[in-house]
Amino acid sequence: MMTTSHTRVDPAKLDRIRAELGSIDRLHLLEGWDRLAPEQQIALVAQLEEVDWPEVGRLIQSHVLNKPEFDLPEKVEPAPWYPYLPPASMENRYREARELGHTLIRQGKVAAFTVAGGQGTRLGWDGPKGTYPATPIRKLSLFGCFAEYIDNIQKRFDVTIPWYIMTSPANDQATRRYLREQAYFGLSEDQVMMFPQQMMPALDRNTGKVLMSGEHEIALSPNGHGGSLKALHTSGAIDDMKKRGVEQISYIQVDNPLVRVIDPLFIGLHAMDDCQMSSKMLPKRDPFEKLGNFCLIDGRMTVIEYSDLPDELAVEKGDDGRLRFLAGSIAIHVIRADFVESLNTRPGGFALPFHRAEKKVPYFDRQSGRVESPLTPNAVKLETFVFDALPLTERSIIYETSRADEFAPIKNADGPDVLDCPGTSIDLQVRRAADWLDRAGCPVPRKIDGAPDAMLEISQRLAIYPEDLKPIKLPDRIKPGASILLA
Ligand code: UD1
Repeated sequence: MMTTSHTRVDPAKLDRIRAELGSIDRLHLLEGWDRLAPEQQIALVAQLEEVDWPEVGRLIQSHVLNKPEFDLPEKVEPAPWYPYLPPASMENRYREARELGHTLIRQGKVAAFTVAGGQGTRLGWDGPKGTYPATPIRKLSLFGCFAEYIDNIQKRFDVTIPWYIMTSPANDQATRRYLREQAYFGLSEDQVMMFPQQMMPALDRNTGKVLMSGEHEIALSPNGHGGSLKALHTSGAIDDMKKRGVEQISYIQVDNPLVRVIDPLFIGLHAMDDCQMSSKMLPKRDPFEKLGNFCLIDGRMTVIEYSDLPDELAVEKGDDGRLRFLAGSIAIHVIRADFVESLNTRPGGFALPFHRAEKKVPYFDRQSGRVESPLTPNAVKLETFVFDALPLTERSIIYETSRADEFAPIKNADGPDVLDCPGTSIDLQVRRAADWLDRAGCPVPRKIDGAPDAMLEISQRLAIYPEDLKPIKLPDRIKPGASILLA
């Protein structure tokens, strides 16, 4: 007999969900079920299926009704790193690593991976964050920036780079539609793969009750970028990589238009040391810059959140007068595909720790029949972080990068004295372009404070390194206040 699953909820499915919710005492989510119209029932069940409810049950006990304490292990050491520029003794090693990176890329063994499942709440952009117009002149979106970078690498190495994008059920359709409308920025449709991550419900911080965002809608949000390590497997992305011969995954966040989507030297250093997962770092500007700290705990690579590193360690200086815990995480990694697979197929699976954040989450109040917007945090949100997989590796390296060349994140909405916002990002993008033009023999006029006195944009199709500008015909002169686009 045919089922009519598209118009009615399959009773067996409903029984399974009812049993799962019953086992964690959350049957209230099905309150009023019989009064719902069929399409409302279908939508609610689709939401319920996005969540691992037994896990939520455990987390309500451990992370909402109780708060996990962070215990700083006794022996925490700063992790070593490869410096941005090699000392003389390492020049050969860097050269070989770069060549290895080139070979891996040329052989099609490297894929790009963007985690874009976040809600982008702080930016206040009504759409997937990757669609945000990020560049100074063309207002090219973040996705557009990554696509142009990928295009550059493809031409340079005569290869097709598969690009995986993790979305969330909340922005998956909009992301797919956007990239289709943009014709994948010239990439081919079958090299861009999107898949959604899992969701987590927001929980009442006092009772652990699952919050509703509407009468028949659960307040769900993505389960953190750590969810990518499961979603890569469950979505079939890892299988797809195997078919394509991909061995290394170049992991980036969606918020940084200057990120080196694929960095041969970083990939080479990581592969040469036979690592499972490696990271890029920036030297922290000051002891309390809000970046995770790369540490060694019992010899295992670990990121300790800035909020968990005791002040006395944060300010401690080494013999060279620099901060001992200098290496800050900027969430750029290379991950072996078979490491992701081994995590997912090991007996008993794997679990990353959940981090709790108290947030203000609007909720539907059954008594008043209204959506209430709380003024103080009322909810606990739970997320896992991808860097918590680092201690599960046998080997992991850190490579330092250049702030000026690679870090211009867009996280917050513009505002006075706000950092990491569109305004600061544009400023940094223009500064990088000015520096590259200066180096290529095309001097950029400067203001008294040294800032470029021109609006500049260089497409990454054209240049991803300063040297790439050398063979290009550059303007003879840039007038103060000019707007120059090299695309
Ligand atoms: C992150 C890092 C921080 C680092 C900074 C560098 C964490 C917890 N913090 O901060 O250490 O210094 O970037 O810019 O990682 N995402 C998903 N699914 C989710 C949640 C997030 O795909 O469920 C994606 C977002 O789309 C984004 C990225 O992960 O691409 C980072 O998101 P966010 O949680 O905002 O981290 P940050 O506060 O930016």
